[in-house]
Amino acid sequence: MSRVLIIGAGGVGSVVVHKCCQAPEVFSDIMLASRTKAKCDAIAASLPRPIKTARVDADQVAELVALMRDFKPELCINVALPYQDLTIMDACLECGVHYLDTANYEPRDEAKFEYKWQWAYQERFKKAGLMALLGSGFDPGVTNVYTAWAMKNHFDEIHELDIIDCNAGDHGQPFATNFNPEINIREVTAPARHWENKQWIETPALSTAEEFDFPEGIGPRKIYLMYHEELESLTKHFPGLKKARFWMTFSDNYLRHLEVLRNVGMTSIEPIDYNGQQIVPLQFLKAVLPDPGSLGPLTKGRTCIGCLIKGIKNGKEKKYYIYNICDHGKCYEEVGAQAVSYTTGVPAMIGAMMMLTGAWKGTGVYNMEELDPAPFMEKLNLHGLPWTEVIL
Ligand SMILES: NC(=O)c1ccc[n+]([C@@H]2O[C@H](COP(=O)([O-])OP(=O)(O)OC[C@H]3O[C@@H](n4cnc5c(N)ncnc54)[C@H](OP(=O)(O)O)[C@@H]3O)[C@@H](O)[C@H]2O)c1
Repeated sequence: MSRVLIIGAGGVGSVVVHKCCQAPEVFSDIMLASRTKAKCDAIAASLPRPIKTARVDADQVAELVALMRDFKPELCINVALPYQDLTIMDACLECGVHYLDTANYEPRDEAKFEYKWQWAYQERFKKAGLMALLGSGFDPGVTNVYTAWAMKNHFDEIHELDIIDCNAGDHGQPFATNFNPEINIREVTAPARHWENKQWIETPALSTAEEFDFPEGIGPRKIYLMYHEELESLTKHFPGLKKARFWMTFSDNYLRHLEVLRNVGMTSIEPIDYNGQQIVPLQFLKAVLPDPGSLGPLTKGRTCIGCLIKGIKNGKEKKYYIYNICDHGKCYEEVGAQAVSYTTGVPAMIGAMMMLTGAWKGTGVYNMEELDPAPFMEKLNLHGLPWTEVIL
């Protein structure tokens, strides 16, 4: 029985609240707080049980502290934007509240995400006797747990890791992103970076592509090399990795639109003067693109996210693939959201469940792969994200 504060009433936040409501034995009291209270209230109205809602500007530590002192949560689930990670962590420290998020901190004025800012909270969380769980979404999140699971159960050494994220769904819109457009476009337009022979290799954004044959009828799709934050923590915690890469599928249509938007300067995060007002082109673009939350009823098809791993078991080379397939339409039927929000929101709820039930215990700042993967893997099967493993 625990009180949980969820911050961020977007696509992911809505799934987290729905899934927490499905487990009242763990999440007895829930508050959803966000910048726009009306969005919290609309989500609350769609739930099978009552929750509390509130308005909070999560950029302001003082507002967060006041809210936490009033509601007294044990845990705060941060599913606002990566810009709010540090202010929410500060407020958690001040109020004695455990912390969980799904994306690492990123400064607003630089499209650069790194764990260094949040890892710097290690001593403060330890001293306060609190736990901060970083990156409890799908990627990062489940992909970190898959890797830890493979290491624990299938390998003596892991040498190569390819995380492959496929959205084979279609929302029928000319151009839309499946989660927050600003964060998504900052990520996709950043240079690709992968780990090889103990160093990072940087290549231009979307310049390296291969074909991958996805299972269960999804079939061959073009995958593009990108940088993703779990590569930083996984190469740190599995130092035997010789190569680690992250790949994502994009439709030709998405890439064509993105190229034009980039060429005309609409993806820039440099503020410009427009009629005497400073505007950031990417933030303006976000305002005119479809809200990812509105794509739920429109999106058909499936996602497939998994880890392809090569290494050694009992002195022999081994190749292993573990993945989840998630159907956009089924997610919409269950919680009113498409699969990209669902595959992020469910692991956030499970991470919170791990912390609140004591299955994952500790003080300090943790990445997912540092904790025992077994209880988390069991809950994935029970809460909507079953996994399949194949020895290749
Ligand atoms: N690990 C993964 O697999 C994964 C995958 C996808 C997304 N993510 C992460 O999940 C998070 C949520 O994504 P999303 O698609 O749900 O985004 P979203 O739909 O844009 O929702 C973000 C929510 O946060 C609220 N918010 C923004 N700034 C705030 C502030 N200063 N104070 C309070 N609330 C604030 C927004 O409020 P308004 O409604 O008022 O704008 C919005 O409701 C992002 O951090 C994203 O990077 C992780």
